[in-house]
Amino acid sequence: MVAEEHSAGRAPRYDIGIIRPELRADRFKLRGEGMPRERLRKLKKALRTLHTLETMAVNIYRFQLTRKRTDLNRQLVTAMCNEMTHLQDFQVKLYEYGWTPSKVRWAYWIVGWVFGTFSRLMGVTRILQTGIWVETKAVDHYAELLETVDWDDETRRIVEKNQADESGHISRWRTLLEARRAGTAA
Ligand SMILES: [Fe+2]
Ligand SMILES: [Fe+2]
Repeated sequence: MVAEEHSAGRAPRYDIGIIRPELRADRFKLRGEGMPRERLRKLKKALRTLHTLETMAVNIYRFQLTRKRTDLNRQLVTAMCNEMTHLQDFQVKLYEYGWTPSKVRWAYWIVGWVFGTFSRLMGVTRILQTGIWVETKAVDHYAELLETVDWDDETRRIVEKNQADESGHISRWRTLLEARRAGTAA
């Protein structure tokens, strides 16, 4: 199988065919010691934002899923798993730095449920359009945070990989939407 790669902006290329990268025990460490306060303040805010948005993303795909045995559902499960990976990534980084997730993230859990459920009720085209719209916002948000936050190298690579994944989601939903419009969808 050909590896799917995606280059997000100036970032190096990441293999977006890897939905859940390997994470070995020796990769965990406590972070932030000796970093300036202002750098830490921005890092904390950015990690909380990303963690909260990924909470929403998991729910969008989770609630877009139906029981039908379709290729779209297979791809939604794949995307959901990918978002669960992102959620784990940012949750781990928050705790490695000694922080906790945002206390108001439950509100985004609900937003994700609303987007997921209502797009599902409106049909396949709306499911795909919602995915494209939300992921486009996500890619822009990631770009802004990559630009404005002084990430540690390991966390930066994760943020870049996850941004590449979001771009990959856009491409997949676009391809499916075009196939649908051309009447070639399964
Ligand atoms: Fe994500
Ligand atoms: Fe995504």
